[in-house]
Parts: sequence; C-alpha cells; structure tokens
Amino acid sequence: MKRVAILVSGGGSNMVALVRSMTGDHPARPVLVASNDPGAQGLLRAAELGVPTAAVDHRAFKGDRSAFEAELLGPILAAEPDILCLAGFMRVLTPGFVERFEGRMLNIHPSLLPKYPGLHTHARAIAAGDEEAGCTVHEVTAVLDDGPILGQARVPILSGDTPETLAARVLRHEHVLYPAVLRRYAAGDRSPVRLAETSERL
Ligand code: GRF
Repeated sequence: MKRVAILVSGGGSNMVALVRSMTGDHPARPVLVASNDPGAQGLLRAAELGVPTAAVDHRAFKGDRSAFEAELLGPILAAEPDILCLAGFMRVLTPGFVERFEGRMLNIHPSLLPKYPGLHTHARAIAAGDEEAGCTVHEVTAVLDDGPILGQARVPILSGDTPETLAARVLRHEHVLYPAVLRRYAAGDRSPVRLAETSERL
C-alpha cells in the first residue's frame, strides 16, 4: 500500500476527492494533509475525513522559503509518504524541496499545460479566445507548472463564460482527473490519462 501526503492552501476540494478515492482496492491510502495556512478550510475537511493534519504558517518565515520548507518537512517526513500530492497548494517550492521528492510528487494545474502556467489561467484562456480549457496533472519538477504530464481533461469554453463559471466547470473535472491519475500512478503506471470523452458529461 502506497502512503500519500497531500498539501493544500485553501478549500481542499481536490484533496477531498483524492482522499475519498483511496478506499477498497485502491493501491494507496492518505497519511497526511498539510497546509501553509493554519486557517485553511481543507484542514478541517481532512480532519472530518479522519486524515491526520499539520499546518506550518508560511507568513512566520517572512519570505524565507527554505526555512518554511524545513519546518514543513517535519510532519511530512514523519508521515513517511511514498507520494506527495499538491492540491491547490499555492506556495512555490524551492528546487531543493522538489529534488527530495522527485519522481513522487504530483500537482494539478487548472489549464491545458503547456498553455498558461502560473495564475489566472481561466481569465487568460477566455481573453485569448480559446475554444477549450481544462486541467492537467503533472509530475513536479523545479520549473513551475512543468514536468511530465500524467493526465489532462478538456472542457469547452462557452460563450458568456466568466473566469468564475469556467473555473467551476474545470474544477468538476479536476475532481475526476486527479483521483484517476493518482490511482494509476500509485500502481506504477505513468502513462497519461485522457478524460476528454467522459469529461464532457460531468
Ligand atoms: C484548483 O483549481 C487547483 O487546480 C488550483 O487551485 C484550485 C484549488 O481548489 N491550483 P481546491 O483547494 O482543491 O478546492
């Protein structure tokens, strides 16, 4: 059984989808949900789901990312994860931290990478006149929102979409894509998951 730690910064809806998926014959189990924000709603939701939680407030480190990460590493290493999932974790990690988990750290990003790394992905896709948007699960490397793509789900951009309506549509697909990728990844299968056809029906 693989041990999975999940890092969140906010609401944690992707974390909830991941935790709920890890039952039965799933090859992994959640061992920790950690956050850089002690007030993150995701921590409460994890606790409700019976998953151990930890919080390290990044603001106490005044921009010293390495010092913040050194503190965050404590509970993570204690949980002995095989896989680390970033799920709406809004801190950029240092190359040193990424290296430590290389080949076993995943992230979900709300765009069809390599398009629109970084923030405001939905507004950028709408402003560009794109006909579709989506989300990507990828392995984390030292370059932000880069690294081998493990799965993508595509959704149409509809006329009248705002960044908010598009974000809500994409998020529903994130909740299907991320668990699907994690299940395969935990079983050792790194071939890309494509959800284009099924995702249209969500
Ligand atoms: C998701 O859209 C994720 O892709 C993005 O932030 C959002 C987090 O949502 N980076 P949640 O915390 O999982 O509800």
